[in-house]
Amino acid sequence: MSQSYHSNRRRIRANQHIRELAAMLQLNHKEFIQPLFLDESISKQTSIATLNEINADTLESLLQQIANDLQKGISKFLLFPVPLKKAENNFDYSFVTKALQQIKNKFGNTVWIAADVCLCAYTSHGHCGILNPEKDKVLNDASVKELANYSLQLAQAGTDCIAPSDMMDGRIGAIRNILDNNQLDEVSIMSYSAKFSSQFYGPFRDACKSTPGNNNKLQDRKTYQASSFNKNDAILSTLRDIEEGADIVMVKPALPYLDIIHELSETIQLPLAAYHVSGEYQSIELLVQNNIIERDKAHLEIWTALKRAGANIIISYAARHAKEWIEKIEY
Ligand code: PBG
Repeated sequence: MSQSYHSNRRRIRANQHIRELAAMLQLNHKEFIQPLFLDESISKQTSIATLNEINADTLESLLQQIANDLQKGISKFLLFPVPLKKAENNFDYSFVTKALQQIKNKFGNTVWIAADVCLCAYTSHGHCGILNPEKDKVLNDASVKELANYSLQLAQAGTDCIAPSDMMDGRIGAIRNILDNNQLDEVSIMSYSAKFSSQFYGPFRDACKSTPGNNNKLQDRKTYQASSFNKNDAILSTLRDIEEGADIVMVKPALPYLDIIHELSETIQLPLAAYHVSGEYQSIELLVQNNIIERDKAHLEIWTALKRAGANIIISYAARHAKEWIEKIEY
């Protein structure tokens, strides 16, 4: 029996030239967002023990970090504020609004800042919203009201984008409304729309000191974050957020949810972000530290998978290396 011309697959793999020509996608550092942590409780830049190479910044070190990242070709950032004081209500956002004003004063439109909107770093119990008096339930509507108020303050301080990661229902519509009613219709919304309850947020919660404590009646975030057993919930939650006015939607974590990224990319017409979260990042870093894999190639392989699945924005703790690593890709 004669072989079909398809049977020799090695011709297309034979050398780097033909592999470059045969590549079906390209990575571009312009599609990357770098997360940053602004910690009100520290007086100098401090490394985050469980998140290799990532620091918690003071306002001063944050400005320097952004300047360094711009040098490396990264201009889009996702800012996570970590307040000094935790409370149950009446949160004070002034340290982050001041920081946003200074960032924008210094860098203007050479940078694009998305401010994470969630209450988990502010609450004494570590949950993403306000609890009922019995402390066994997150109050959706009271939380949405607070998140919208917080978003307004961030937008007035000059953030380019609001990125709500709390997973309350109706927050995208409420935020869009309050921004539009205050002449802030140019501020965009990137919704963490398909955000799953996950093990892989561990290092991030260390950085934000936001792990729901053991003395909590509500010990995890399963009552508001999506379940890995329910794909449709994540899809519906994303479609709902688009209807409510999201400009960019997101799947998070990334690698365990490639199927969701793929399905959404075929369904929706908006930019789709994949967030390779702290625990996913750190699992690579630990393999690298043990000399088991090569750092740049490992991150590049994952980023390629995210793009292949259909993401067009990648949020990665290694974003600041994207330009350098992509330039050196060996196909
Ligand atoms: C806050 C929030 C989380 C992350 C981003 N925003 C963690 C959580 O829900 O506990 C995770 C990011 C990461 O792990 O890199 N709600």
